[in-house]
Formats: sequence, C-alpha cells, structure tokens
Amino acid sequence: MIEFNQVTKTYRKDWKALDDLTFTIDQGSYTFIVGPSGSGKSTVLKLIYGAISPNKGYVQVSGFRIPGIPKNQLHLLRRKVGVIFQDFRLMEDRTIYENIAFVLLVTGTPRKTIKDKISTVLASLRLTHKIHQYPYQLSGGEQQKVSIARALVREPFVLVADEPTGNVDPEGSAEIFQILKDINSSGTTVIMATHELDYVKNTPFRVISLTQGKIVSDTKEKRCIQ
Ligand SMILES: Nc1ncnc2c1ncn2[C@@H]1O[C@H](COP(=O)(O)OP(=O)(O)O)[C@@H](O)[C@H]1O
Ligand SMILES: [Mg+2]
Repeated sequence: MIEFNQVTKTYRKDWKALDDLTFTIDQGSYTFIVGPSGSGKSTVLKLIYGAISPNKGYVQVSGFRIPGIPKNQLHLLRRKVGVIFQDFRLMEDRTIYENIAFVLLVTGTPRKTIKDKISTVLASLRLTHKIHQYPYQLSGGEQQKVSIARALVREPFVLVADEPTGNVDPEGSAEIFQILKDINSSGTTVIMATHELDYVKNTPFRVISLTQGKIVSDTKEKRCIQ
C-alpha cells in the first residue's frame, strides 16, 4: 500500500507544489493522476519513488517511510518502484539489450540470468527483433516499451508512469496504455500521471484530479471536493 499523510511539498518558499495531501493507494490497483501542467502530478510520483522528500507529513511506500528512511536504504525503495518517463531516458549510445542489462548489472545479477530475463521481457513486449538496435532506430512507442522492459526486469511491485504517452503517436499510445493495463492485471500496482483526459474519460480505474497541489476530485471517494 502507498500512503500520503498530510503531505506538503514546497520547492520555493512562497509556493506549495503539494498542499496537505492525504490519500492511500491500494496494492494491485490502477490509478490515474490527472490535472493541468504544474498541478503537482510529477511531484506526487517523485515522492513515491523517493526522488524527493516532503517538507511536512510523510509518504509510506510498502515498508519505507519518507522522511525517515535511512539514506543507505533509499536504493532499496528505488529498486522496488519501476519508473517510466515521457522522454524514455534511454542511453543513446547503448543497444536495447545493453540499456536493459545495465540496471541488472549494477545489482550484481549473473549474466545468464540477465540474458534470460531480457529475452522473456522483450518477447512479451514483441520487441525481440530490436534487441541489438539503438534507441534512435526505434519509434517513440518502441522506445517507451524498452523503458517499460527496463523497469519490469527488476520486478517492481509498483510501476509509476509520468506522462508515458507524451512522446508517442496515437497508435503507440494505445499500445502503451494496454501494456500498462496488462502489467496491472498481473498484480503490479500502476500509477499513471497524464494530462490526456481521453484516457480517463470512461475509465473504470480510479482517477485522482489535482489542481494547484490539492485533490479536487477522487473517483474512489465517489464525490467531488470543490
Ligand atoms: N525542481 C523544482 N523547483 C522549483 N519548482 C518546482 C520544481 N519542480 C516542480 N516545481 C513546481 O511545482 C509545481 C508542481 O510541479 P509538477 O509536480 O512538475 O507538476 P505537473 O507534473 O502536474 O506538471 C509547479 O508549480 C512547478 O513549477
Ligand atoms: Mg509533470
């Protein structure tokens, strides 16, 4: 479970990026975080993957609490949370195989295990034929699938996606969205920030709407706070 308890985040003195936010996200659920640019979506996600710390309140992700987590344990949290970004963040001078292998090499995974894991994940995403290509040779949608593969090989219990379809054409976006749904069906918690409201219009999933760092509606609560 993920818990935000009275979380306030200020990057600058005079402005609250998040203002006293309290909510929980159930293990295994799919949640959209929506809201205009600057409403605090990325800040919520950064708190979940331990990139930043709240100024007030706390964030609890599985057994880890921020603030409070010792610095030398932060990497354990980051390992458990898969993250994908709008701009993919692949290493341009490395092949698809090398991009995915990198995150496993740094944790000391044996080479044979790495090879097997990468074969399996690329097959499941129908990307095996791209394994020795470089990111620039792939479409936006394919690059995003590689970044999903890179997150999945670490077997995260939660996958956080920050505007994952922002640099992908409509067809690729639909595929990315379907892949995220499949990942969720297999038991992984998925949290996706987006400002593309088409995805969330008729969704059965939970939608948390932010405006200026506050929750203005939350479909789980079946009510609007306005
Ligand atoms: N590193 C930063 N330094 C200063 N202000 C920031 C920083 N990151 C975000 N902000 C501010 O915090 C608010 C929320 O930003 P963000 O979480 O990125 O929103 P969103 O992802 O919804 O566009 C915005 O007002 C933004 O300008
Ligand atoms: Mg953002």
